[in-house]
Amino acid sequence: MLIRASLLHATGAGLPGARLQSWSDGGLLIKNGRIADVGPFTEVRARHPRATLRRLEGGLLLPGLVDTHVHYPQTAVIGALGMELLEWLNEVTLPTEARFADGQYARSQARLFLDALTKSGTTRALVFGSHFAAAQEALFEEAAARGFPLISGLVTGDRNLLPELHTTPARAYEENRRLIARFHGHNGLRYAVSPRFALSASEELLEVSGTLLREHEGLFVQSHVNENPREIATVAGLFPSARDYLDVYDRFGLLGLRTVLAHDVHPRPRELERLAESGAWVAHCPSSNAFLGSGLFPMRAHQKAGARFALGSDVGAGTRFSLLGEAMDAYKTQRQRPDGLRLTAAQLLYLATRAGAAALEAADRAGGLEPGMSADLLWLKPLPGTTLEEVLTQAESADHALGAVFALAREEAVAAVWIGGNLAYERSMLQAP
Ligand code: GUN
Ligand code: ZN
Repeated sequence: MLIRASLLHATGAGLPGARLQSWSDGGLLIKNGRIADVGPFTEVRARHPRATLRRLEGGLLLPGLVDTHVHYPQTAVIGALGMELLEWLNEVTLPTEARFADGQYARSQARLFLDALTKSGTTRALVFGSHFAAAQEALFEEAAARGFPLISGLVTGDRNLLPELHTTPARAYEENRRLIARFHGHNGLRYAVSPRFALSASEELLEVSGTLLREHEGLFVQSHVNENPREIATVAGLFPSARDYLDVYDRFGLLGLRTVLAHDVHPRPRELERLAESGAWVAHCPSSNAFLGSGLFPMRAHQKAGARFALGSDVGAGTRFSLLGEAMDAYKTQRQRPDGLRLTAAQLLYLATRAGAAALEAADRAGGLEPGMSADLLWLKPLPGTTLEEVLTQAESADHALGAVFALAREEAVAAVWIGGNLAYERSMLQAP
């Protein structure tokens, strides 16, 4: 299939040098689920005169967005106002997650969750799973059935949560092993060992997490770090011999190139150095950090230290699935810090696409429109009569158009989404009466 559309993606080897490349009348050829050719429409058409044409009138076609931190069992808690992290977990979030003991409820939520990601333009994600193995299976099965490239895993904790969410190190080991054998490396799925956070893990549970990593090739690790001052102080009390929060994970061999730790709002200099040295990633979740009053992410300090970061929606502390909104919140967060970076539209797009793909070990497959990439695409087209439509009409540069997209485009502006060349969502299907 040959798509004719206004095309836009971010290029460059890293965040500082990110640039926009655009073709206002572009052509993009999809073959066997991958992008096979891209460029000005007339040139691509001349090279592929027989390809079936699909014309996308108006709007912009972007690479699919990559969410590096989002919680499957938290869609229903979005918008629980008035609390900070530990209160929010205890009062609303953990009780909601306990409902995933019901397999039928879990399956319906798995569908809702994957629908929500897809219709927000997210085409690849690292997902914090459920504490219940059957609920985790439901998520993997639904993702496999849709061809959604999911990385996820059973969430584990054996203290300081609700008793019904607690596991034991032995049970966590067995359940993880079973899930890894069944899903890791199958149907485009990968597995992430997911101790919830140091605050809810015993040394034995962290030891089991490290053992699983050593016993299986290519696993990811995900957890949370340095989100909230009370959380950080509690972790220091639980692990008195650790040098700092990051060191708790490090001692059990959990830091590496496939590690993604959410938040890191309050890192110490040593932690930033160690993050950079280990190659682990931080998932920056700006709407969540604002929502729970966790603080303003020190992006410049991460960048200076060489600690890598991408974006996460962190639903349900995050306030929506759209990474376009998340990118705008990342921008605003930096504007509120005296040392904040002044991010460009290209850099925001880079964070929402290429950086996420790199964090998920998919830099060669996702995040851009180059030939060889998976055809994961997002067609943004504002609904008629919306402010976004008006601003895009008047925008005089690709930078301004994209800035307006970050400011105004959310779920409703997503007209269609392709994953691996397959149409995964089309807005017109929903609008039919
Ligand atoms: N730390 C441990 N669990 C969670 C969670 O579900 N959300 C956030 N934002 N932080 C956490
Ligand atoms: Zn989280």
